[in-house]
Amino acid sequence: MTKKTILSASVPTGVLTVGNYIGAIANWSAMQEKYNCLYAVADLHAWTVHQDPEMLRKRSLSFYAQYIALGLDPEKNILFMQSHVKEHAELAWILSCFTSTGALNRMTQFKDKSQQHAKNINAGLYTYPVLMAADILLYQANLVPVGEDQKQHLELTRDLVENLNGKFGDVFTMPDPFIPKLGARIMSLQDPEKKMSKSDENEKNFVSILDDPKKIMKKVKSAVTDSGSEIRYDENNKGIANLMTLYSAFSGKDMPTIEAEFDGKMYGHLKVALGELICETLAPVQEKYHDLIANKDHLHELMRSGAEKARERATKTLASVYDKVGFYRV
Ligand code: TYM
Repeated sequence: MTKKTILSASVPTGVLTVGNYIGAIANWSAMQEKYNCLYAVADLHAWTVHQDPEMLRKRSLSFYAQYIALGLDPEKNILFMQSHVKEHAELAWILSCFTSTGALNRMTQFKDKSQQHAKNINAGLYTYPVLMAADILLYQANLVPVGEDQKQHLELTRDLVENLNGKFGDVFTMPDPFIPKLGARIMSLQDPEKKMSKSDENEKNFVSILDDPKKIMKKVKSAVTDSGSEIRYDENNKGIANLMTLYSAFSGKDMPTIEAEFDGKMYGHLKVALGELICETLAPVQEKYHDLIANKDHLHELMRSGAEKARERATKTLASVYDKVGFYRV
């Protein structure tokens, strides 16, 4: 039986957080044994919000190294930079001609980001989900492991598949989202009403993969919780529910086990235990990261080889799409 294809990506803005890890990247590495996996650093997407070019370059390399440090094996997965495979932008153009402005107007991420960046509501921000659909469809992905915030973009991708397959026969594989039951939406530490975001200006809102232990302990200890004290999982009690979700994801323990472990203890106990657990988990990741980032040539080699393998697949899909839509070939 042929292995299913998995594709996912992350945009190199800000710093990768434990939210990205729990919601997505932890599942990426869990899939690498069973599936054909492609994971991209989605640098083309980054420019939907204006970037400092040098900073973007630095972050792109850093994200690539973090993927590997977080457990993605470059031998088992195709790890690549989106901008190294030009077919992404080409397919996005075709797909944009099949996407209604009505559908794009409904995208909540577009609405949110337009508010956040009111002075720069550019066409790229608007068509962002089309480029994301191209990322997925170029590789005929069956499954797309993402956090909950990407669900709507996946639905738009699925609509595109239905539309194009209906018109031209089987052009694309229908992708399914893979959204974890636990940790699909990790919340901000200071404002548990909103999601933890890697480009948040207030760094107290997130724990980054590269934060040192002192910072991690400080951020977790100062996480906002309500005035209660009992450690019970209750979705309405967002601050403590978020910390328990993180504890569960990092420890592999379920909620009843965690409730029993902290029976009679205070919020402060949970915060210390969680901070220590995150530090322990990230220590070997950070060590590996620092080794990797010290050897740029090696990372460049891996990037080149990843892009080559990705391109092999991407060119096939794009050629078939160009044929189906009637572009003249010689
Ligand atoms: P990005 O870069 O914002 O985030 C990367 C992944 O992390 C997940 N995530 C979270 N999960 C749980 N809790 C959170 N607080 C949290 N914040 C982020 C995201 O859902 C995502 O899975 N558009 C995508 C990147 C992308 C992509 C793709 C994804 C580009 N092309 C193709 C899948 C397939 C994004 O902005 O993710």
